[in-house]
Amino acid sequence: MSSFLKMSLVLRRANRVNQSAMRGLCSQAQELERSGMVLPNVAIAGVTGAVGQEFLELLEARKFPFANLKLLASARSAGKKITYMGKEYTIEEMTEDSFENVDIALFSAGGSQSKKYAPAAVDAGAVVVDNSSAFRMQPGVPLVVPEVNPEAIRAHRGIIANPNCSTILMNVPVWALHKEVPVKRIVVSTYQASSGAGAEAMRELEQQARDWVEGKEEVKQDIFGRQYIWNLFSHNSAVCLETGYNEEELKMVKETTKIFDEQIPVTATCIRVPVLRAHCEAINLTFAEPMDEARARSILENAPGVSIVDDRENNQFPEPLMASGKDDIFVGRIRPDLSQPGGYGLELFIAGDQIRKGAALNAVQIAEQLVQNARDDATEGVSVGIKQGSEAVFSRGFSTSAPEEKNED
Ligand SMILES: NC(=O)c1ccc[n+]([C@@H]2O[C@H](COP(=O)([O-])OP(=O)(O)OC[C@H]3O[C@@H](n4cnc5c(N)ncnc54)[C@H](OP(=O)(O)O)[C@@H]3O)[C@@H](O)[C@H]2O)c1
Repeated sequence: MSSFLKMSLVLRRANRVNQSAMRGLCSQAQELERSGMVLPNVAIAGVTGAVGQEFLELLEARKFPFANLKLLASARSAGKKITYMGKEYTIEEMTEDSFENVDIALFSAGGSQSKKYAPAAVDAGAVVVDNSSAFRMQPGVPLVVPEVNPEAIRAHRGIIANPNCSTILMNVPVWALHKEVPVKRIVVSTYQASSGAGAEAMRELEQQARDWVEGKEEVKQDIFGRQYIWNLFSHNSAVCLETGYNEEELKMVKETTKIFDEQIPVTATCIRVPVLRAHCEAINLTFAEPMDEARARSILENAPGVSIVDDRENNQFPEPLMASGKDDIFVGRIRPDLSQPGGYGLELFIAGDQIRKGAALNAVQIAEQLVQNARDDATEGVSVGIKQGSEAVFSRGFSTSAPEEKNED
């Protein structure tokens, strides 16, 4: 039993505190320390990548409570040193033995690595929060956007999946509206940044810009196999020959139904644009009852994780640069869909940082909720810690044989 597993026992001896009042005053780490709880050990799998780097920034910025941190990547990065929060860490090669004493493993090393190593992490007793698509649609794996279905976290059996980035960005504002007036149909078009395909894709876009400035006849095009700068193209995930939809589009369709826990017809068109960071989406909604613009605006203004940028006079609306490095999803162009009579239709345009809210931030929010759940349960004396139900999870039917995917953002 790792130290964090023992925390509920420790906590039962701790003084009860007014949690909501405490939350307003101090970080989760301070709360845990004050209540006498043992802090969890955390591993980041894929720490050198675009999402992994964001994890480091967020854990520090949000004062995520941890005792020890393990930084994992491939053999290419093993041995490299990182100074983080005043301490030197050495990156280790991820192996099946990497997860001893780890309580929470934040995975962002790609789907095939998740399939290979997440079972080992769970067997070692960790709860995995996985950014890849490896387990998202598996029964028994909660697929969580904390603003939408935080309660699903409790049902985990060792793995919690972070949804696809475009899906997360769409679901946060749409859910806020859907809670008030049911959404009957979603039509979405995405404008996706290079960083959605990882740090190398981001570097390639920058390289193409340099190549172009230097007047090279051909720009470097290893990642997407085409010129990206001054161009845009249909998302690089595999296209289903039968339906014509690509995998990214199908993720938005299927994952939204799982997260909302109800059938919502979604149709998506996903496009890569030569933007470094932050995705945009044009979202068209059809409601079961009329949803007027003023009501939609008021709902979105009060929605967690949403900021409104909607200045018609000055033509100021959400943009990727505005959203880059920000937690919130920026929503604008809020207007009735004039093609749907009776006020049943609404148009939105959003921008959100898909490395942050579309990946790392969403996963860290899940991890924070895991810690909070364990703390709440321990206060009530009903739980054994965050790993509840995770033992031998893979002998209980998780599949690691889902098809390989070239791109999984
Ligand atoms: N980028 C996004 O916007 C986004 C959004 C949502 C979800 N995701 C998901 O998050 C995951 C990571 O994406 P990313 O954009 O951060 O990719 P990335 O920048 O390409 O980084 C990949 C990371 O995985 C590590 N890795 C690769 N092979 C490995 C191996 N055999 N063993 C251990 N580590 C290995 C790499 O380590 P080395 O540096 O040592 O090679 C690197 O740290 C993917 O599953 C992706 O689908 C990404």
